[in-house]
Parts: sequence; C-alpha cells; structure tokens
Amino acid sequence: MKQLLLTFLIILAISLTQAQNTTLNLIPQPVEIQQNSGVFTLNKSAIVSFNKPESRDVAEMLVLKLNVATGFGTKANQGNKGTIQLNLNQNPDPKLGNEGYTLVSTSKSVVISANQQAGLFYGMQTLLQLLPKEIESKLLVKMKWTIPAVKVTDYPRFAWRGLMLDVSRHFFTKEDVMKYIDEMARLKFNTFHWHLTDDEGWRIQIKSLPKLTEVGAWRVQRYGHFGDRAFPKPGEPATDGGFYTQDDIKEVVRYAKERNVTIVPEIDVPGHSMAAIASYPELSCKKDTSTRVSPGINFVDWFGNNTFRANIENALNPSDENVYVFLDKVFTEVATLFPGQYIHVGGDECYKGYWAEDEGCKALMKKLGIRHVEDLQGYFMNRVEGILKKNGKKLIGWDEILDGGISPEATVMSWRGIKGGIEAAKMGHDVVMSPTTFAYLDYVQGERTVDPPIYASLRLQKCYSFEPVPEGVDAKYILGGQGNLWTEQIPTLRYAQYMVFPRAWALSEVYWSPKESKNWDNFIVRVEKQFDRSDVAEINFSKAIYDPIIKTKRVNGKLELTMETEAPRLEIFYTIDDAMPDKYTSKYSSPLLLPDGPITLRAIAYRDGKPIGHLITLKREELEKRAGN
Ligand code: ACM
Repeated sequence: MKQLLLTFLIILAISLTQAQNTTLNLIPQPVEIQQNSGVFTLNKSAIVSFNKPESRDVAEMLVLKLNVATGFGTKANQGNKGTIQLNLNQNPDPKLGNEGYTLVSTSKSVVISANQQAGLFYGMQTLLQLLPKEIESKLLVKMKWTIPAVKVTDYPRFAWRGLMLDVSRHFFTKEDVMKYIDEMARLKFNTFHWHLTDDEGWRIQIKSLPKLTEVGAWRVQRYGHFGDRAFPKPGEPATDGGFYTQDDIKEVVRYAKERNVTIVPEIDVPGHSMAAIASYPELSCKKDTSTRVSPGINFVDWFGNNTFRANIENALNPSDENVYVFLDKVFTEVATLFPGQYIHVGGDECYKGYWAEDEGCKALMKKLGIRHVEDLQGYFMNRVEGILKKNGKKLIGWDEILDGGISPEATVMSWRGIKGGIEAAKMGHDVVMSPTTFAYLDYVQGERTVDPPIYASLRLQKCYSFEPVPEGVDAKYILGGQGNLWTEQIPTLRYAQYMVFPRAWALSEVYWSPKESKNWDNFIVRVEKQFDRSDVAEINFSKAIYDPIIKTKRVNGKLELTMETEAPRLEIFYTIDDAMPDKYTSKYSSPLLLPDGPITLRAIAYRDGKPIGHLITLKREELEKRAGN
C-alpha cells in the first residue's frame, strides 16, 4: 500500500512539474513571468471589477470578449471586489511606465494593475492569451476555463511598435482596417501607420479637394501580377477602388484609440503621387491631362543601386506655389482628423527627371543656389514641414528625407536597410526602424515557387533576429520599429493576415520584449501554439515554417543540396526520380551531391509520421539558379 502511495505521489509530483514547465503561450514574451502551482477557473460567478471610472471601457471590452465563448454573462462593476480586478495604481509604479502592467493569478482571483489604461489593456491581452485558445471562438464553447497561476510583470522595450498597411495598392474597407487594428492590439502593437495615398489610389476624403477621391480613388479594373498589368485604355471607366470619408476616418481613429493604437497617416509626396496628378494634373511639371490612376502598371525602369526612371510623371512640382496651396489644404484637413503628433509625408522613391527639365524648377534651383536637382527634395520637404508645424504636427518620412537636408526635429523611418536609420540617429534625429531586410511583410516568407512571388524573401527566423538598435547608435534615438505591409499583391484582408502572421508575432516580440529574453527555440514553440489559437479565431497565417528551405551550391562541378526547416521536430523526405515523396522515400539528413541530368527535386516535411507543409518541386534549372548559375 505504502509502495503504491509513493508511486502515486511520484507520478503526481512529475505531472505537476511538467505542468509548470509547459511553455506559456504568450506573444510577445513578457519581461518577467513566474509560474506558480494551481489554476484560476473562470465560472458563472466571476465578476470583473475596475477601481477607477476611467477603466470602465477596458473592463467592458474584457467582459464582452469573455462572454462570447463562455456564455457566462460576466458583468463589469466599479470597485475592487471582482474575481478579475483591473486596478489603476494609486501610486504609479515607475518600472511599469505608461504601458506596463502586472498580472497576478491565483486559484481565487486575477488582479491586473497598471499606472494607465494602456497597461490595463495590455494586461487584459495577456489574460486572454493565458486562457484556453477556445476563448477566441465566435461560438459558445462548453469547457473548463482555467488559467495557470502566474505572476507577470511586463512593460515594452520600445515606445513605437508599429505595423503599416498600404490601402492604396489595394483598398481595404474601414471594417478590414479595424480588424487589422484588433490584431495589432492583441500583440501589443501601438502604432498603425496608414499608407493612404500612392500611384494606385488616393484613399482619404479631402473636402476642399473633391477630385482627389472622385478621380484619384478609382482605377480601371485589372487582374494579375502587379507590374504586368495593361495600361488604362482611353475612355475606359475606372471602377476599381474606394476611399474613406472623413466620418469613416474619425470612426477608425476612435476605434484605434480604444485599443491604445495611435494612427500615423501617410500622405506620400512628392513622389508616388500619380493618383493626385490624375485628379489635378496641374500639380505636376508636364501637366499631362491624360494621366490616370495606375492599375498596377509597370512605369518605372530600375537600374539597380536605387537608381530608376519613371516613364510617367508621378511627382508633384516643387517649384509651383499652387502645389503648396494644395498641400496646405491636404495636411490641414489630415491634421484635424488624426489626434496623434505625427504625420508621415512619404518622401521615398521620388523620380526627379521631370524636375530637371522643368523651367520653373530650373529657376527655383538658381534662386536657391541649388546645383543638384536631387536637393530640391530638401526644399520641398522643408516647406511641407512648415505646413505640418503650423498645424501642430511633427514630420516623419522615409529615409530619403535625409537627402537634401531636413530639420533635426524630423523623424526618419529607415527602410532601405538600417543605414538611413544609423545616419539619422548620428545626426540626432529620432528614428523608427522598418528595414526591408527584417520588417517588410510583403516579401515572400516561404518557398518562392509556392508562395506568390514578390520582390524578395524574408523568413520568420530573420524577422525574429532583428535588433532595432544598431551597434554604435545611441538607443535614445531609436523610438522603435514596425513591420510594413505593401499590398501590390494583397487583395484581401485574409491574405493580408497570411502575409503578416506569423512574422508580426516575431516583430511584436522584437519591439516589446527585452533583448535578453530572445530565444528562437522557445519562440517557435509558442508560434505553433498561436497557430492553433489563430485557427479558432479564424485568423489566417502562413505555415511556411513547415516547408523545406532548399539551397544549392556548386561543389567541384556538382550541385550540392542543403535542406532545412524553421520548425522543430520535422523530417524531410525527398525524391529525385520523379516519384512522389512520402515517409518511405529518402530522408534528408545532411548535404548531398545531386547527380547530373534533368532531375527534379521533390521534397516535403513530415512530423510524427504525417505530411505537414507544402510539397516543393524544383526542376534542375531552378536548382542551378539557386547555386548562382
Ligand atoms: C518604400 O518601401 N518605398 C518606403
């Protein structure tokens, strides 16, 4: 009997230890988390309390969310007696700052404390992630709703944790945008960069310039790969597009604010302005009245090294005073709609060839003593900054705003790698890091013969490895970073989610969690748990981590094949004999030399004896290409 009891106790002890050692499924990883024994169980008698009236909104948001899946009808009451308490600290805890929180769960209660609403909001997000994934269900689920007993202390590493959405290349409805913001908020992102204008569409109503949306928000309907689409035909109706009314914008701004998200609107000038020029051709140098909103045509020749030529004029004329009257109208209306301190003015990829030939621009250069047409951009940006300042706003722009000079108060968004950010920080500018190399969420994240192709590749692990403070740079200038979703190839919100996740999970951790806690092996386990949670939430994501990463190189005239995967516990099976691979075909273990001849490689990953991820099929040609041949 004694023996039996002892065995039972040992088993109990082991299972308790195991329970405590399970990785908590939290993204981004909190600063400190201590797991204790026991669980809190949410049941019908739960009450959410809030100790200050200003926390009512967070409390009500929490009960609204909990009640969908639990069906408990939990209420939010002012006070401090709830089984789930949202408490604003009487004496602010300096460690927590404006966005930090503590969360203590025991068998009896969950107490979230913070200095500010934002902290309570993020504590709520952590609480939701600690609950079973079924809490994300849109339907009632009958189950035991437990959360592990923990003590979490958490606050962000960076103040700017952003995601950008380009609504020009494809229009996303205000409901889509609000869903995008919801997703951001769950991951503790606090800055939504809204890319509202570009060559392919002007998306924000400007009441004093109605043609911007009557004309600029609409383009001819085209399908197929961006850049390969046919030019608009004369007289062809422009039926594809959309825009946000100012009431829509106010609604989205309000929605974002309730979720601790500040919106940074972008009006991209002087380049990327074909939609504005289609609406008001007089804003350009050539004043070509046949200019149309681009449906995704290829009008730029790229020569490498960031040099290019735009074959259709898409830049505003910096020498025309009417352009500044136009910009004054635009930015004044934009400034009244968005309460945040920043307006993003673009500044990227402006082709100046038409400026160089324009008599007005030549005269302006002479007057200003400017020798290089490139430097006219500095003049233009400084005029724009003046307009923003008059409206009480700060200028942020892509790293090209450094070309031609900009005031030290301007904030620089580093996108062409991190070099612009380093240069800007060394000059004393504030910097937001969003380099193509780590943070471009439009890039292909998986095998590029499987995922729709776009400019370049960016794997999850690379995103996760991002360090936003470059060596030798004073960290105080790095406000934070963001991920950018350009939508040339992204027509729907569901596909936007596929491109954003899981990479935005990695970036959320890069921008929120302490640098010291970064751990890929631990992260990837949590990623897979988030997959299950996202399935319940009906949020799309890419499973590229299950696809073999296939590389080749030349070794003594032969092709050497290497295959690896990002996810753990996978086996790769492959064939080169035109049979379909399965778990009985060759298993990849180490780099191998491929035979000569017209072979095709087929590879697929398995886990626990079952196929997972995509079958990848690469012909010899492609295998050669990857070796750089
Ligand atoms: C950019 O990607 N053109 C900022």
